[in-house]
Amino acid sequence: MTIDVKIIQKETIADRIVQLVLARPNGRDLPPFEPGAHVDVHIDQSTVRQYSLVPSGSAAHYAIAVLDDPNGRGGSSKVHRNLQVGDGVQISEPRNRFPLEEAEHSILIAGGIGITPILAMADSLSRQRLSFELHYCCRAQRNAAFYTVIRQSPWAANTRFYFDEESQQFDPSVLANASEHTRMYVCGPEGFIQYVRDNAARHGWPEHRVHYELFQKSAADGTGHGQRFQLHIDGTDQVIDVEASETALEALSRSGIDVPCSCEQGICGTCVLAVVEGLPDHQDMFLTDSEKQANNQFTPCCSRALTPVLTIKCDT
Ligand code: FES
Repeated sequence: MTIDVKIIQKETIADRIVQLVLARPNGRDLPPFEPGAHVDVHIDQSTVRQYSLVPSGSAAHYAIAVLDDPNGRGGSSKVHRNLQVGDGVQISEPRNRFPLEEAEHSILIAGGIGITPILAMADSLSRQRLSFELHYCCRAQRNAAFYTVIRQSPWAANTRFYFDEESQQFDPSVLANASEHTRMYVCGPEGFIQYVRDNAARHGWPEHRVHYELFQKSAADGTGHGQRFQLHIDGTDQVIDVEASETALEALSRSGIDVPCSCEQGICGTCVLAVVEGLPDHQDMFLTDSEKQANNQFTPCCSRALTPVLTIKCDT
C-alpha cells in the first residue's frame, strides 16, 4: 500500500545532501516507525528508491536525507534536481530490515550518508536511556549530514567524528574487548561495511551481533546477468528459462510470476525466495554469510544459479 505525501521542506544539510520533510496533504499523522526503518519513495513512474527515516520531531512528518551520488543509479540525482517543495510523491509504509535488538550496550557506526538509520537508532537509544556510542566517519565536516544536530543533541558526548581529510581514521580497536551483550550496527558504503565487519570478525565478534545495512551497492557489482539457467517452480511442472541477459526476477515476471521487489540490487531482501534444490550463485548483500552457505534461499533480483536448474518456492 502506498501513501500520498507532499514535500513540505527541502533543505541542503551537507555537501550534496538534501533533507526532505514529507507530510500527508491533510496533515494527519503518518504511520509510526521503528529506528532503522526505511520507506520506498516513488521518485517518478520508473524510479523507486529506499531512504531511511530520520527523526522528524513530529508524528505528522517523515524526514529523509538524500546524497546526490555521481556513482549512483540516478534516483538520488532526480530527488535533488526534480523534486521540489509542494510536489506530491507516493511512498510505501515504513519497513524495517535493520531493527535494534536488545543489548547491554550498542556500538553504532556510520559511514557518510549511512548516518540516516544510525541517527534514528541513537535518538531512540538516548530516549530509552540505554547505553550506546556512535562513531561517524566522513570525508570532511562539510560532508557530515546532521553534524550540528548531533553536536547539540543530549548524546553528543557519546559520539566521535572521524574526518578523513583531517587524518582522523576510524580506529577499529573500539571493537576490541566488547562484552557478549554488546551489539554493533553499521551502515554506509559497501567497502566501509566490509572493513568494519572484517575488523569485528578479527576481534572475535560473532556474526549475529553485527548488524549492517548497505547504503549503496558498489557500481562494480553484478547486474544480475550472467550464465543462462532454469528455474523450476516447486510442486509444479513449470520450468522457466533465465536468459543470460535478464535477471531471474525478470524471467519470473515474464512468466506471469510477480515477486515483490524493491531495491532490485540485492540490498533490501524484499524479493527473497526459498530454494528447494540446486545451488544459488549469491550476488546480494542482504543474506548473511551463514544464510548464503545454507543455500536455501536466494534473491532473484541479482543472484543466479551455480547448477543448471534451481527449484524455488513461489507463493504467487
Ligand atoms: Fe531488494 Fe531483491 S529487491 S534484494
